[in-house]
Amino acid sequence: MAGMLWPLLLPLVLASGAGAQIPRLCATTSALRSKTCCPVWEGDGSVCGEDSGRGTCQEPAGEGQPQLSERDFRKGWPTSLYSQICMCQGRFAGFDCGECKEGYRGARCESWKLSVRPGLHEMDWEAKQRFLDYLERAKTTVSERYVILVTRNTSDVNSYYFHNATVYDICTWVHYVAAKPIKTRDEPNFAHMGPGFVVWHRKYLLFFEKEMRHLTQDEDFVVPYWDWTRSNSCDICTDELMGSNDHSGKLLGTTPLTTW
Ligand SMILES: *[C@@H]1O[C@H](CO)[C@@H](O)[C@H](O)[C@H]1NC(C)=O
Ligand SMILES: *[C@@H]1O[C@H](CO)[C@@H](O)[C@H](O)[C@H]1NC(C)=O
Repeated sequence: MAGMLWPLLLPLVLASGAGAQIPRLCATTSALRSKTCCPVWEGDGSVCGEDSGRGTCQEPAGEGQPQLSERDFRKGWPTSLYSQICMCQGRFAGFDCGECKEGYRGARCESWKLSVRPGLHEMDWEAKQRFLDYLERAKTTVSERYVILVTRNTSDVNSYYFHNATVYDICTWVHYVAAKPIKTRDEPNFAHMGPGFVVWHRKYLLFFEKEMRHLTQDEDFVVPYWDWTRSNSCDICTDELMGSNDHSGKLLGTTPLTTW
């Protein structure tokens, strides 16, 4: 992929507390108390789509264990919250195994489609407008799929509450949580300060695209890239695109982002 990764997905800066995005279907007291996040797949009415061979409800496996402080709920994610989750077979994916791994499509995830991210400047007017419209919808539509779990103490189930965040805010939250120091300011930031940067952000953009596809029902949505080598200044900071700004950096103009 040429150019720079889409620069808009900036982390939210929040003062305190910990939390994580979790499937709305698992944001229940019973799911948290039983530490089980194994939703029924609507396609066949079975847990994790097991009757269709899509997945099974079991202990999470195969995740690496980065060295984090004991207090860090991200350690062995998602075991601090759930000891049983849907583990999907083959090309199946998602919290209920109802989806396909990236790139695969079809009722049985049998076909593969290459997605090519366009340069923002190469998109025609209509495609740019559609992209901005999708962003606006993502910023203003509460996610049906995920909620944000908020708590000051991840060991205390009684202190949990769930925030109905918009699709865009869920995505920025994922970024924020990955980069957040939990205990001290000098903890490693695995999403940014090391070789994980590219891999983590690649997966992150795929997550963003998936949530946007769910929201817009546009199966072919891909996030465009900004080729910043074209100009010495921010040539997407225009009223037509991400908004122009005044000398203090305040957004001007007619872009929907002005009201974000
Ligand atoms: C968090 O909650 C657990 C369980 O209620 C409690 O034992 C622990 O002391 C709490 N930790 C903090 C820092 O409040
Ligand atoms: C979040 O949305 C759900 C579904 O609309 C609703 O039942 C719930 O009360 C909302 N939660 C909060 C904290 O607003």
